[in-house]
Amino acid sequence: MTKQYRITLLPGDGIGPEIIAVATDVLKVVGQKCDLEFSFEEALIGGAAIDATGEPLPEETLATCRQSDSVLLAAIGGYKWDNLPREKRPETGLLGLRAGLDLFANLRPATILPQLIDASSLKREIVEGVDIMVVRELTGGVYFGKPKGIFATETGEKRGVNTMAYNQSEIDRIAKLGFETAQKRRGRLCSVDKANVLDVSQLWRDRVTAIAEDYPNVELSHLYVDNAAMQLVRAPKQFDTIVTGNLFGDILSDAAAMLTGSIGMLPSASLSSDGPGVYEPVHGSAPDIAGQDKANPLAQVLSAAMMLRYGLNEPSAATMIEEAVTKVLDAGYRTGDIMSEGMTATGCQGMGEALLNIL
Ligand code: IPM
Ligand code: MG
Repeated sequence: MTKQYRITLLPGDGIGPEIIAVATDVLKVVGQKCDLEFSFEEALIGGAAIDATGEPLPEETLATCRQSDSVLLAAIGGYKWDNLPREKRPETGLLGLRAGLDLFANLRPATILPQLIDASSLKREIVEGVDIMVVRELTGGVYFGKPKGIFATETGEKRGVNTMAYNQSEIDRIAKLGFETAQKRRGRLCSVDKANVLDVSQLWRDRVTAIAEDYPNVELSHLYVDNAAMQLVRAPKQFDTIVTGNLFGDILSDAAAMLTGSIGMLPSASLSSDGPGVYEPVHGSAPDIAGQDKANPLAQVLSAAMMLRYGLNEPSAATMIEEAVTKVLDAGYRTGDIMSEGMTATGCQGMGEALLNIL
């Protein structure tokens, strides 16, 4: 029997519409092969939503997402909306989506692909074989803590405030997911915090250490975030799974992504405990190349694969997509961001066609 899935598409801004079109084409073909039927519903987010409705995350978008099995997001933001007040900015729409769908966990793999190893700015022997999963807490910490805002002090001076806070339950659920993720990988979990300075990090470390007792087969280590940043660049192969808070995860996942030299290749998954997850590329909306058929759609396509694996529990369809991506790279197709000598230059649509041919 054909299985049916409802997918909300959030193309967003910049290159978003181009790359999500490639991913939906790929999903349709893989669906036919694996007896899966996808119904796609588009909704507005980010700058596109601001232009159409005045809000970066219309209530209707959240409702559509909640009714679907999974959400495929492209990217948001652009110069055009950079000077709006914070509550009207595209990023606020993204944060609202995370909070609104309770996406407490963000999985960001950073894997070096053998075909693209020379794209890394680090030496081959340092990065060859790197395979890291960053598990970032996504709905707490300093991004959401209260009080927050810009206030006037008694002397009339302005004071900007954000609060880095975690409840024990918030730490526990992301820690568990970190251990479970490590268990499915190479069994090593590194928890990153700043417990030498921050109380919130001390609680984080205490809880992660306590939860480790339930996962005796996972080897747990702790690093302070400054050291973790240094180690990521010095010797990235020491890492398997990293679990960390919202802000540290934001920063470290960009550093980890750049180890691969090809941020245009990296997908991510944002998960809640019961509702639909959101699957999106790690890269941004690249407004400078939007609408020019230059974008690399592979991170979006691999995000669709993550959606199949983590959201819809369709691992063989996910593998089919991942193998097709490997094959287009082996065949030498390259968009501008990953181009190297002797390879076949192609655009966003050309890459999509190459994928469909392989599939
Ligand atoms: C990310 C981005 C977002 C974040 C921005 C766009 C709000 O940098 O997904 O990593 O800071 O979380
Ligand atoms: Mg970021």
